[in-house]
Amino acid sequence: MNPNLSRLQPYPFERLKQLFAGVTPNPNYRPISLGIGEPRHATPKLVTDALTANLAGLASYPATAGEPALREAAAGWLQRRYGVSVNPATQVLPVNGSREALFALTQTVVDSSRPGATVLCPNPFYQIYEGATLLAGAQPYYVPSDPKRNFAVDWDSVPAEVWARTQMIFTCSPGNPTGAVMPLDEWKKLFELSDRYGFVIASDECYSEIYFRDEPPLGGLEAAVKLGRSDFKNLIALTSLSKRSNVPGMRSGFVAGDAALIKPFLLYRTYHGGAMSTVVQAASIAAWNDELHVIENRNLYREKFARVTPLLSAVLDVALPDAAFYLWAGVKGSDTDFARDLLALYNVTVLPGSYLAREAHGFNPGAGRIRMALVAETAECVEAAERIVQFVQSRT
Ligand SMILES: Cc1ncc(COP(=O)(O)O)c(C=O)c1O
Repeated sequence: MNPNLSRLQPYPFERLKQLFAGVTPNPNYRPISLGIGEPRHATPKLVTDALTANLAGLASYPATAGEPALREAAAGWLQRRYGVSVNPATQVLPVNGSREALFALTQTVVDSSRPGATVLCPNPFYQIYEGATLLAGAQPYYVPSDPKRNFAVDWDSVPAEVWARTQMIFTCSPGNPTGAVMPLDEWKKLFELSDRYGFVIASDECYSEIYFRDEPPLGGLEAAVKLGRSDFKNLIALTSLSKRSNVPGMRSGFVAGDAALIKPFLLYRTYHGGAMSTVVQAASIAAWNDELHVIENRNLYREKFARVTPLLSAVLDVALPDAAFYLWAGVKGSDTDFARDLLALYNVTVLPGSYLAREAHGFNPGAGRIRMALVAETAECVEAAERIVQFVQSRT
C-alpha cells in the first residue's frame, strides 16, 4: 500500500457524521442542511440540450488536450471576463472539474525527492489541497487567514526557511470558506516570492462568478497581466463550471497559465486518464459561451445573501462576503457544540469551522466559526436563518 494514504485526514463530512451520531434532530422541524457546498440551482437548458445533441461522441475516445473548439471557448471566456489573452494551443487544458485538476497538478509539480518538499495551504482551506500534497509525498505548511484583514492569508508569517523549500502554494480566491477575494497587492507579493524561491502558484478560482460587489473578483491571470507578467510564469489558474453553471455532476473546468507547466501537466494527464468526454466538451463549450445564465445564477445568490445576511449578522459575527456562496460566521464558544445543539434543537445542519482548518502554529483558525452554504432556495435559507436566530437567542 502507498504509505501516504495513511497520512490523509478524515473528510469534514465524515467528522460531522461522527459529531451527529447519537443526536436526535428535533422532529418538529423539517431538516435543512447548510452543510454541503454543492450548488443546487437548476442546470441551464442550453447545457442539457448540448449534452443530448452530442451523445454520438460517446462512441470515440477523447483527446486529453480536448478539442480545439473547447480550448478556444475557454480562451474566449478569459478574454471577455478578465481581458486576458492566452494561446488556446499551449496555455489552456480542459479538466474534469477543479478538484481532480488541483490533485493532478500537485502530482505533476511536486518533486518529493528534494529535501523537505513543502506545499503551502491557506488555513482554513479546501481539503483536497492537503490530500494532494500528502499523496505527492510533500509536507503541507498551513498559513492562517486573518479575520482582522478580511480573512487575508498571512503570507508574511511564513519564515524564509519555509519559503526556501516551498515548491507550490495554493491560493483560493474567492475563498472557501471565507469568501474573501485576493487584492492586487497580495498577488504582487506572491509573484515576487515565487520569483525569488521558484515555487508554482495554483490559483483555485472556482467561485469567481458568484460575487456580491459591483467589481467582479480579480483573477490570478488578470493580476499577472496587470503586473506585466503576460507569460504567467509559474502560475496556473483553475476554474470550473460546477458553480458558475450549476453543473457539479458534469465534471468540467479548465486550467490556464504558464505554457511551461501546461506541457508537463498534459503529459501527466495522458497517463492518468484525465481526458474529458467529447459529450461533456460540447456542453462545456455551450456553457462558456453563454453569460446570461451566469448573471441569472448570480442574481439568485445575491437575493439570497441580501435576505439572509442581515438576519444572521444581528446574532452572529458575520458580514456579507466578497464572493462565493458561504457565510463564515463567528459563534461565541465551541463551533462543534454550536453545530450539534443546533441540529438537536432546530434541525439545521452547519459545518463546524474547525473541521475546515488544521491546528497549526498553536491554534485552529476555524475554531469558533461555522460555515453555512447558502445553496438551497431562498425561502429555505431564510427559514434556516430564522431558526438559527432563535437558537442563538435561546442560548444567551
Ligand atoms: C475551493 C474549492 N475548490 C475546488 C472545488 C472543486 O470543485 P469542482 O471539482 O466541482 O470544480 C471546490 C468544491 O466545492 C471548492 O470548494
